Amino acid sequence: MKIMVVGGGGREHAIIKKLKENKQAEEIFALPGNGGIAGDAACVDIGAKDIPAIVDFAVKERIDFAVVAPDDPLVLGAVDALQAKGIKTFGPNKKAAIIEGSKAFSKDLMKKYNIPTASYETFTDMEAAISYIESCPIPVVVKADGLALGKGVIIAETREQARQAVRDMMEDKVFGESGSKVVIEEFLTGPEVSVLSFTDGKTVVPMVSSMDHKRALDGDKGLNTGGMGTIAPNPYYTDEIAKVCMDTIFRPTIEAMNKEGRTFTGCLYFGLMLTENGPKVIEYNCRFGDPETQVVLPLLESDLLDIMLKIYDGKLDEAEVKFSDKYACCVVMASEGYPQKYETGFEITMPADKNIYTAGAKLKDGKLVTGGGRVLGVTETDDTLKGAIDAAYETVKSVNFENAYFRTDIGQRALIAERK
Ligand code: AMP
Ligand code: GLY
Repeated sequence: MKIMVVGGGGREHAIIKKLKENKQAEEIFALPGNGGIAGDAACVDIGAKDIPAIVDFAVKERIDFAVVAPDDPLVLGAVDALQAKGIKTFGPNKKAAIIEGSKAFSKDLMKKYNIPTASYETFTDMEAAISYIESCPIPVVVKADGLALGKGVIIAETREQARQAVRDMMEDKVFGESGSKVVIEEFLTGPEVSVLSFTDGKTVVPMVSSMDHKRALDGDKGLNTGGMGTIAPNPYYTDEIAKVCMDTIFRPTIEAMNKEGRTFTGCLYFGLMLTENGPKVIEYNCRFGDPETQVVLPLLESDLLDIMLKIYDGKLDEAEVKFSDKYACCVVMASEGYPQKYETGFEITMPADKNIYTAGAKLKDGKLVTGGGRVLGVTETDDTLKGAIDAAYETVKSVNFENAYFRTDIGQRALIAERK
């Protein structure tokens, strides 16, 4: 089979490595991929948002199966465009991807179908938003409606910060059109859990749970990033909580999307907060998480391509989806200065026989060099969480590039939770 994966980060690298385990995956193309992915797939210089070029390529190469991984092309309708040309594709169509593409949509969906989430109000008028802030409890969370590279969420500790966030989004358009509508919501507290799930719109199969580390610095300090590391499974996510989530969140969401005429197929990501009043949805993503995928897929014992093909056929109930009972830890190595200013172009040296997923990495004169903020993620698995963490940090020592920065405490919070 000829397979095409749209995207070019660590998540896509992890998907590609897993797909390659199936002998049927004879040829894999990555659009655009990256310098490290080039060791595992043929990288094609087509951007993940260039839908006409993606479709042309798929038709010309007679691609048998496509996987669209990032949020942007999904929300823009890449799956619809590919399927219109007869290309079998994994991922939600545009109508379903709105579950991530519009926070106002997802909040209204949850309200309508009684799916637990933070209480909220939606505004398209800036004055109305600002006057609402005068009376709401503090802290309060201000969110841009549309996609904003994971940066469109402001936790305001004061009313002035909340007002400023609204002005930034609605007046100064710091997130462009994504901020013309804002959601202002209740601040929740509790441990966060990421649950990625496979679904064909009928069956929903949660994958092993995970924990992201979004802040740039140790101790969960500093700016929000795309994710500095992950562990799986998440010790807060007990079997009992998993059952509650299945009954009150996962199945109701799939059914709600069906009832809205927006059947979701692909990977639906539930960002959950385990509050005193039970698990609540913080966000939905219409795709695999990054860097969650880099710990979840290494623990998948079943065949990823087979699962994806079964989802395409609407027969997920017939697929084997089995995870090992091991633990995984992924430590992201970034360019010093990320998520703000950083330098790139430094040569990367790393062992060839390890689970290293590259993101901001490119080939220059035959050498792998840094080319982005998050450069790569190092994943190790082990029989214990501590073993996985120690092994990941041991492997990090054998990866070298100038200006490398990584958090030194990935998984520490989970280790403490495990002991409780
Ligand atoms: P998001 O971009 O939606 O993933 O939000 C980024 C982060 O903001 C989440 O991972 C949470 O840590 C935090 N967050 C979002 N919404 C809330 C909320 N209602 N209460 C507390 N924290 C929140
Ligand atoms: N790691 C969070 C996300 O993929 O959105």
